[in-house]
Amino acid sequence: MRLMIFSDVHGNLEALKAVLAHSEQHRVHRRICLGDLVGYGPYPEECIQLVRSLPGCRVIAGNHDVATLWKTSPYGMSSVASKVILWTMEQISEESKQYLAELPDRLDIAEMNFSHANPYNPQAWRYVFDRKHALRCFTATKSRYLFIGHSHRPLLITRNNALDMDIQPVPGTIRFKLSDTRRRIFNCGSVGQPRDRDPRSCYVIFDTRQHQVEYYRTPYDMTETLRAAQQVGLPAMIGTRLKKGL
Ligand SMILES: [Fe+2]
Repeated sequence: MRLMIFSDVHGNLEALKAVLAHSEQHRVHRRICLGDLVGYGPYPEECIQLVRSLPGCRVIAGNHDVATLWKTSPYGMSSVASKVILWTMEQISEESKQYLAELPDRLDIAEMNFSHANPYNPQAWRYVFDRKHALRCFTATKSRYLFIGHSHRPLLITRNNALDMDIQPVPGTIRFKLSDTRRRIFNCGSVGQPRDRDPRSCYVIFDTRQHQVEYYRTPYDMTETLRAAQQVGLPAMIGTRLKKGL
């Protein structure tokens, strides 16, 4: 099976369309979205509807998704993020709110675990950048492969033993052959707002038969996203970050 895993769409419809079109050319059988369909971007409702229309696509709740429902307070986020969440609340349909409300906060499928921020305390939204938090992730599940998003920075963490882990950023389009039994955490980056200084969209394909994880970076029509963001009055900082990949 070739499984597409993507995260942090953040209302960026052009980026979402680009990664879906790109994945079509790479023989994807199933898709999983790790959350944050909304927030920051100008097309929250359209992104929810497009992801809902994908056959069999499983979706996990992200912190922006739950903030849009007032399950958590948007005022606990950065001022730019909270401003857009308050705007997003007015843009999405009751049906879409119901859809977001029913999203799980983690999934375990075969030897894979999927969560937005981490599997050990998914609703606390802690980032996983270091050994201490990676260890908590590995302890929270028996799965060999863990897939997360949230930080918007593609990252691979390989567990050598409880005390020793390799932590490496994942630059650009790259393939990892999983030729040993070590457990791994894959941060799948962000479709709609990358923050690793590469403004191209990021997503992952896990080929379970070939034991291979493929990271892809795809360009998209950012001009349209920037135009729409400006038109609906989103903070200018969002455009600046998109252009720089920050
Ligand atoms: Fe996010």
